[in-house]
Amino acid sequence: MKQFSKLLEHAKMGPLSLDNRLIMAPMGSLNADSNGYITDNALAFYSSQASGGLSMVIVECTATDDNLSRGEDNVMCLYENGQVTGMARLASAIKDQGAVAILQLCHIGHQLSLADRKESLGPSTMFEMQGGIRPFPIRGLTIAEINQIIDDFAKAAWRAKMAGFDGIEIHGAIGHLINMFCSPQYNHRTDKYGGTPENRIRFMVEIIEACQKSCGKDFPIIGRICGDSFDPVDISLEEGIVHAKALEKTGIVALHLVGGDSNNVRVINAQYDVRGDYIPTAKAMKEAGVKIPIILDGGFTTPELAEEVLRAGYADFIGIGRPALADPAWIKKIKAGRRDDIIPCMRCTMGCVGTIAGFNAAIGLRCSVNPLCNCTNFRKVEPAKEKKRICVIGGGPGGMEAARLAAERGHEVTLYEKRKLGGTMHEAGFSDELKGDIKILIDYYVRQMNKPGITVIEDEATAEKVLAGNYDAVIVATGAVPVITKFEKQGLANVHSIYEYCGNPAAYDLGEKVVIAGGCFMNLEVAQSLLRAGKKVTVVSRRGGGMMGVMEIGDDNSSPQQQRLMILNAQKGIKYKLAKDVASVTETGVTLRDLKTKAEETIECDSLLICRGYTGRPKIYDELLKEMSEVYLIGDSKMKIRCNDKRNIGDAILEGWQIANRI
Ligand SMILES: Cc1cc2nc3c(=O)[nH]c(=O)nc-3n(C[C@H](O)[C@H](O)[C@H](O)COP(=O)(O)OP(=O)(O)OC[C@H]3O[C@@H](n4cnc5c(N)ncnc54)[C@H](O)[C@@H]3O)c2cc1C
Ligand SMILES: Cc1cc2nc3c(=O)[nH]c(=O)nc-3n(C[C@H](O)[C@H](O)[C@H](O)COP(=O)(O)O)c2cc1C
Ligand code: SF4
Repeated sequence: MKQFSKLLEHAKMGPLSLDNRLIMAPMGSLNADSNGYITDNALAFYSSQASGGLSMVIVECTATDDNLSRGEDNVMCLYENGQVTGMARLASAIKDQGAVAILQLCHIGHQLSLADRKESLGPSTMFEMQGGIRPFPIRGLTIAEINQIIDDFAKAAWRAKMAGFDGIEIHGAIGHLINMFCSPQYNHRTDKYGGTPENRIRFMVEIIEACQKSCGKDFPIIGRICGDSFDPVDISLEEGIVHAKALEKTGIVALHLVGGDSNNVRVINAQYDVRGDYIPTAKAMKEAGVKIPIILDGGFTTPELAEEVLRAGYADFIGIGRPALADPAWIKKIKAGRRDDIIPCMRCTMGCVGTIAGFNAAIGLRCSVNPLCNCTNFRKVEPAKEKKRICVIGGGPGGMEAARLAAERGHEVTLYEKRKLGGTMHEAGFSDELKGDIKILIDYYVRQMNKPGITVIEDEATAEKVLAGNYDAVIVATGAVPVITKFEKQGLANVHSIYEYCGNPAAYDLGEKVVIAGGCFMNLEVAQSLLRAGKKVTVVSRRGGGMMGVMEIGDDNSSPQQQRLMILNAQKGIKYKLAKDVASVTETGVTLRDLKTKAEETIECDSLLICRGYTGRPKIYDELLKEMSEVYLIGDSKMKIRCNDKRNIGDAILEGWQIANRI
């Protein structure tokens, strides 16, 4: 506990008393009904989040009008008095668990277009290319409309206070309306709301002052801003500091910092960005004399990093967004001496943002590494009624999650692993720099395999061995193997499978020019690592012949990660050959064939990395099924062929969890 003494320290934020310095950052959960009213699922979600010991929970962006301030359907709203009752239950659900309850108020601005409405609002009239693909109109606000929006915020703030929230947060970041006012990219106004950074922050300052009027100056308000967009055309660090100081003067109780913008997609940092992405921004704010407490989010996936930043004094509180979905019980586990049991978020954004950005409001917020996330209403873990002897074949994420949960429920588990615990996560985590989060996840699971009730056998399981063990149930989690292409079978020294390469990149000398055949995100990540090593990379894909152009490749990633990867690859000069296939390969180059015209072209290269999918369906499953009734197949081993069947770590973990929870 001494190790995390700063994180666990009691602290003040204005009039608020916090049990520790770990805060849940706001995350849209889409848990409201279509009228913006709080549902039982919202109560269950926030109650379970707060129960893990977080000192403050900042509830997600909540719309202030019933028109253009809302984004997707199912966004929480507080524009009418009828919505107060549900909000009051929500505030209670959080406070019952001992956390401070804050509600974030927000106008969605141009992010509205994600919800496919007709126009969005902004400081200035302009067109922008949504996702770099489709033109989208933004209509500049009149002064009367600005005043109306300020008034809407003030009324929503008052309703939040009536509902029993301990305070509110005004959302001035992540591309939403207030952030657009702050941004020179979107704000071209020549009146008092545009021009200088002081003028651009005025809209937010006036909103805060109006909320202070409606709620009283002692009602705590947190200001959320972008401290640095890391983009030459958007908010600079210097401007961020001006904005922070202007907000400080209003009497807000804390500044909640993020960074990045919609051009570079760094607001929800990717696996490819360093953890603690905005630490330099917070540090610069402190050095520039910003005195109010700073809450800092952005990739704090371990308590060690959080403690380090708090001790260095760069921030006063750490906000965890995704890590709190992966495991809301950081504080409880640390206090119980169980730091090693904290489930690490791998910053994949596949479960959380992936589902939202896929416009799939029906699914809502989920987490790849935590099947309980936002599902506590219907998923419960209880001790097994009858203790069974279970054999798990395969120590990848699917097998290890199944083993972990089955043992936790009281079963006796034997897990066979023929290579090394971690499975294909070792290939997925091929680069410390780009995929280090997956290594952290492997370490977590390996620690779990040392728990009582689990015996790991480092050996290949066969049907005979398993049957000889007289198990009550068998879970087959043997993963998938790469399809070997005719080009690899040619035996050329410059042709390698991506799978083999990812197993040990240091063992390969690929030369200067590399062609990668296959357009899934895993291959684009390999491209990024080679580009970072100074190589010239061309990606060939059969995809990419349609309307979405280059965005059709790598689309098996979550949307923010895909966009971030495409940006990073473009910055490093990646080349694409889309809607083409490899026709032949020699020691000096690759000949490509256009899928439509059949025209061929040859490009020089030193090596070809190739992937044509992976197949599961292991023989052992059918062999065991003939002899036993309780045999289950999970994870990649269910897969016919990846590419058509987009499976990943999250799918394997979920299926492992589901079986282990019902045996
Ligand atoms: C290059 C690459 C990059 C990837 N990147 C990502 C990524 O960034 N994010 C993501 O979510 N997914 C990624 N994936 C996919 C992800 O790794 C898999 O979906 C996931 O690991 C599947 O988990 P699993 O438990 O089903 O199988 P696996 O992880 O494949 O584990 C199966 C295990 O079973 C063992 N085994 C097999 N047969 C036997 C036997 N008879 N006896 C004993 N042991 C046996 C194997 O040795 C292996 O360890 C990537 C895959 C590849 C190939
Ligand atoms: C699914 C999801 C939804 C989010 N919704 C909001 C939101 O409603 N308001 C907000 O200010 N930030 C939102 N964010 C940003 C987070 O609060 C946080 O700043 C960001 O995810 C980086 O922190 P992390 O690395 O700890 O996740 C969201 C992030 C995610 C992953
Ligand atoms: S889905 Fe991925 S990024 Fe999102 S919280 Fe879970 S592990 Fe983290």
